[in-house]
Amino acid sequence: MLKIGIVGCGLQAATIAGYTGVYGDDYEVTAVMDVNFESAKARIAEKQVKLNAGCRFYDDLNDFVAKEVELDGIIIGTPCNLHTEVACKVEQMKAPIYMEKPVAIHLDQLQKLYAAFKTSTVPVEVSLPMRLCPLTLEVKKIIDSGKIGNVEQIVGYEDTSGEVYFSTWFRDFEKTGGMFMQKAVHDLDYMFFLAGSNPKEVCAMRAQRVFGGDKPFDLSCDQCGEQEQCPESPYNHFHKLGMYSSVAEAAEYRYGRRMCRFSQGIKIDDINECIFKLENGAQIAHSQNFLVRNDACRRGARIYGYRGTIEMDFSGKIKVMSHLRYQTEEITVQSGPLSHYGGDKELVYDFLQTMKTGQRARTDLITGNGIYGTLSCLCARESADKREFINIKL
Ligand SMILES: NC(=O)c1ccc[n+]([C@@H]2O[C@H](COP(=O)([O-])OP(=O)(O)OC[C@H]3O[C@@H](n4cnc5c(N)ncnc54)[C@H](O)[C@@H]3O)[C@@H](O)[C@H]2O)c1
Repeated sequence: MLKIGIVGCGLQAATIAGYTGVYGDDYEVTAVMDVNFESAKARIAEKQVKLNAGCRFYDDLNDFVAKEVELDGIIIGTPCNLHTEVACKVEQMKAPIYMEKPVAIHLDQLQKLYAAFKTSTVPVEVSLPMRLCPLTLEVKKIIDSGKIGNVEQIVGYEDTSGEVYFSTWFRDFEKTGGMFMQKAVHDLDYMFFLAGSNPKEVCAMRAQRVFGGDKPFDLSCDQCGEQEQCPESPYNHFHKLGMYSSVAEAAEYRYGRRMCRFSQGIKIDDINECIFKLENGAQIAHSQNFLVRNDACRRGARIYGYRGTIEMDFSGKIKVMSHLRYQTEEITVQSGPLSHYGGDKELVYDFLQTMKTGQRARTDLITGNGIYGTLSCLCARESADKREFINIKL
C-alpha cells in the first residue's frame, strides 16, 4: 500500500492523486496539508481519490513535516509562488516528491531549490506532461530516425483562451509570475526535448494588450452590474458566445468566483514571444496568445531540418514533409482519456516507479532537465522586462 501525502490539494494535485490507481497499484492518501480543508475535501471527492479513513488534515506545513514520517510520496500542488518553499521543507521527510510546475517564480527561489536538491537523495519529479505525451514521443521517434535531419529550428505556438488565467487566482502575478512561467514552461520543455539540447540564450517580449483595466481587483462577475455590456460576463458567455447551457451554469466556476478580467492590478501578459539559442546552435521561437477563443485556438510546432519539416498539432496530428522527395506523411496519434494530451498517464507511471523502485522520473528536476523549463521562462521574462538578451544560467 503506497501512502501518499498532498500539500496544496487543489484541482491539479487531486487529479494526479486520483490517477495513482490507474495501473492497479494499491494506494491511499493518508495526509493532506492545505489552508482550505473544505475545498481540499471537495477536490478529493470530485477526483475520486482513495482517502484513508483516518487521513490527517493539517493547516500548518511544519506540523505536516514533523508528524508524517511514513509517507511513500508527496504531491505538491499549491499556488506557484509556494512550490520552492514547500519542496525545500519537505525534502527532510525523504519521500519522493511530485512537484507542480513552474518549480519557482523567481530566480532566487530556483537557486535555492537547485542547491537543496542537486546532491539530495530525494527525487523530485516535475509535472511536465507535454514532454511525455504520445504525440511528442512519436515526433521524437521520427526525429531520431533521421527523417528530417538534425533539428535546426522549431517554431512553437500556444493560442488559448484566457478563461482560467485571467478570471481566477492565476491572474495574480505575485502567485504565478506571469504567463511565461504559467504556460510556456510546458511548451519550451517539450521543444528542448525534441531539439535534444538545452537553452543558452534568450530574447523575449511580453505585453498586456486587452485584459487588465480600471475595475477593482477583487470584483467578481457575480457582483458586477455590467452583465449585458461585458463580453466576458457569464450572461454573455451564454448569450453571445454560446458557451454553457444557461447563465447560471456559466456563472458556476470550477475555481469559485469568476473574477473580473478588466481589473486594475492584473500584471500578467496576454501576449508574449520568446526566441532561444540552444547549446547546439539550433533556435526555438515560441509565441503565446490568450485573447483567442473557439476555432482560433491551437497549440503545436513546426520542426525544421535540412531533409524535412514536421508539423505537430496537439489535437493529435503529425505531418512529416520531406524536402528531398515530394512526399508527405500524415499520422494521427490517440492520446487517450487522461489529461494533458495523455502526458499525465506517463507522469504517474514515473511517480509510481520512483516510489516503488527509487528510479528517478524522466522529468526529474536534476537528472531529467526538469529545471530548464522554469529557468528558461524566468530568463525570458527578464529579457522582456529589461529589453535585453539574457544568458541562461542559474
Ligand atoms: N502540470 C500541469 O499541467 C498543471 C495544470 C494545472 C495546474 N498546474 C499547477 O498546479 C498548481 C495548482 O493549480 P490548481 O489548478 O490545482 O489550483 P487550485 O487553486 O485548484 O489548488 C491550489 C491549492 O493550494 C491550496 N493552498 C493555497 N495556499 C496554500 C498554502 N499556503 N499551503 C497549502 N495549500 C495552499 C489551495 O487551498 C488549493 O487547494 C499551480 O502551480 C499550477 O500552475 C499544473
